[in-house]
Amino acid sequence: MLTKQVYFLSRRTYCSVVNLASDIKNARPFSEIPKISFLKVARGNLPGGKYYKKSMREIQQLFYEEYGSIMTIPPMLGRPQFVITYNPEDFETVFRVEGNWPVRFGIESLSYYRTTKRPEIYGDLGSLFVSHGEKWSQMRSIANPILMQPKTIKRYLTQIDNIAKEFIELMRKIRNEKSEMPGDFSNYINTWSLESVTAVGLERRLNLFDENTKDENAKKLIKGIRDFFEMTVEYDGKASIWKYYQTKGFKELLNVYDTLTDVIMYYIDLAMKEMNEENSSSDTEDSVLRKLLRADKRVAVVVVSDLMLAGVDTTASATLNTLYCLAKNPDKQEILRQELIEILPDKNTKLTPEKIRNLPYLRAVIKESFRTLPIVSGNARMTTKDVVLSGFHVPANTHVGMQPLFAMQDDKFYPNAKQFLPERWLREQTEGCPRAGVSNPFTFLPFGFGARSCIGKRIAELELETLLTNIIRNFKVEWHYPDMKIKSTFVNIPESEMRFKIIDV
Ligand code: HEM
Repeated sequence: MLTKQVYFLSRRTYCSVVNLASDIKNARPFSEIPKISFLKVARGNLPGGKYYKKSMREIQQLFYEEYGSIMTIPPMLGRPQFVITYNPEDFETVFRVEGNWPVRFGIESLSYYRTTKRPEIYGDLGSLFVSHGEKWSQMRSIANPILMQPKTIKRYLTQIDNIAKEFIELMRKIRNEKSEMPGDFSNYINTWSLESVTAVGLERRLNLFDENTKDENAKKLIKGIRDFFEMTVEYDGKASIWKYYQTKGFKELLNVYDTLTDVIMYYIDLAMKEMNEENSSSDTEDSVLRKLLRADKRVAVVVVSDLMLAGVDTTASATLNTLYCLAKNPDKQEILRQELIEILPDKNTKLTPEKIRNLPYLRAVIKESFRTLPIVSGNARMTTKDVVLSGFHVPANTHVGMQPLFAMQDDKFYPNAKQFLPERWLREQTEGCPRAGVSNPFTFLPFGFGARSCIGKRIAELELETLLTNIIRNFKVEWHYPDMKIKSTFVNIPESEMRFKIIDV
C-alpha cells in the first residue's frame, strides 16, 4: 500500500502519506536514481580531489549541485549503499514507514568498540545512540520514562540556573579590555554544557569553571568528547578502511573510547559510594542517576555515556549559534530582552518553573536559530517497506540519508529565508511576517522524529533556555567580526573565534 502523497493541512502540521501499490508500479526503477560512483568518491577524497578535507556540509553542497535532489552512494568499505535525498516530501515518506524499531545507520566504530573491546561492560546491552532493533528498544524503554518526563527534568532547573549564573560571572571575569570574550570562548561554552549535563546525568558538579578545582578526570572527559566528534567523522562519516585494517588513527579513537568509559565508570562508582553512604532523601530518590542505577549499574554506564557523547557539543553549538544570531540581529535581541525583563525585573532573581513557562519569543528565537544554523547536518533511517522517493522506487531495507539544509533555506518553504525572523514561529501571527513550517513541517526536525528522536531534547531545552535567559538579561551581545565560519562534523560547530562583545545592561 504505497504512496499517493496527499497532504491534509491542519492548524500546526500536515499529515499524512496515503500509500498506493500503484504508485510503486508507476515509479521509475531504483537503477535510474543518479549514482555517485565509487571511483569518483575515492578519487575525490585523495589529496587535490574535489572532496579532499571538505566538511560534511561542503560535500553535501557539492553532491546537491552535481546530482540534484536524490542520488545513491554505492556500498563502500563495509558501509552499505545509501540513498541521499534533499526532498522533504521524501523525509515524510521515510519517517512514516520507520516502524517500531527505527534503524539509523550511525557510529559503527563505537558499536565495534563496545562489543569487542569492553564486552564485560557493554556486552549484551544495547545503546541508545548506536544499537538497533530489540536491544535499542529495551534501552530506550528504560530511559524514556526517566529522561522524557518534564517533571524529572524540571527538578534540575535550580541546579542548571545556578550553573548559568556562575557562567555569567565567568563571562565577566574573562572579558578583555574591549569587553570581548576570548578567542576560545567556544571551549568555555563547552565546559558549561558538560557541567550542566553531568549535573543531570551524574548528579555531580565537576566545577569546570574553576581551573584550580578542575580534576584530571574532568579534563579527560572534555578532551575525549571533542576527540570523539572530530575522529568519528573520519571513521564513520566517510568511507574508511578500519573494518579491514586498523590504522594508527583508528587505534587512537579506540583509546578515546577507553578513556571515556573509564572516566564515566569512575564517576558512577563515586556516585554509588556517596549514595550508599548518605541517607537517601525523597528528593535524591527521584534523580536520573538513581533511577538508572536502580535498573542496573551497567545500564547507567551505557545511558550516561550516550548522554555525554550526544549532549555536550550539540547544546554548546546551539547556544553559540543562537547568541551569534542575536548579536547579528540586535532588534530581535532587544525584543527578547523585553520579554525577559518581564519575568526577571531583577536580573539576579532565581528562575522557577513558573517564570520560564511563558517565554514564547525565546523559544521562537531558538527555533529560528536552528533553522538558519542547523546543529546536525541531517538524519538517516532504513526503510522498512518499499517506498517511492522523488518518483523512484526504493526497496525495503535501504538506508536513506535525509538532508534538510537546503529546504530550510529555501524561500519556497520559508519566505524571506535569508532573514532571521523569530516571529515566523510565534503562535500569534505578526503582521507582514511569513509563517514557518506550514508548507512542510518535515523540513524542520532539529531533534529528529518519532520513537528514535532525541532523548535529550528536554535537557537541551532546559539548558539552552536557562543560559540564554541569563546572558541576554545581563548583557547586550554584539558581534564585530567577519561572518562566523562553521566546521561541519556530525554536529555543525562554530569554527571561528567567538569573540562576542558583552555590555552590561
Ligand atoms: C540542541 C541540542 C541537541 C540537538 C539539536 C540534538 C539533536 C538530535 C538528533 C537530530 C538526534 C537524532 C534523532 C533521530 O534519529 O530522529 C538525536 C539523538 C540523540 N540525542 Fe540529541 N540533540 C541535542 C541535545 C542532546 C542532549 C543534551 C542529549 C543528552 C543529554 C542528547 C542525547 C541524544 C541521544 C542519546 C540520542 C540517540 C537517541 C536514540 O537513537 O534513541 N541530545 N539528537
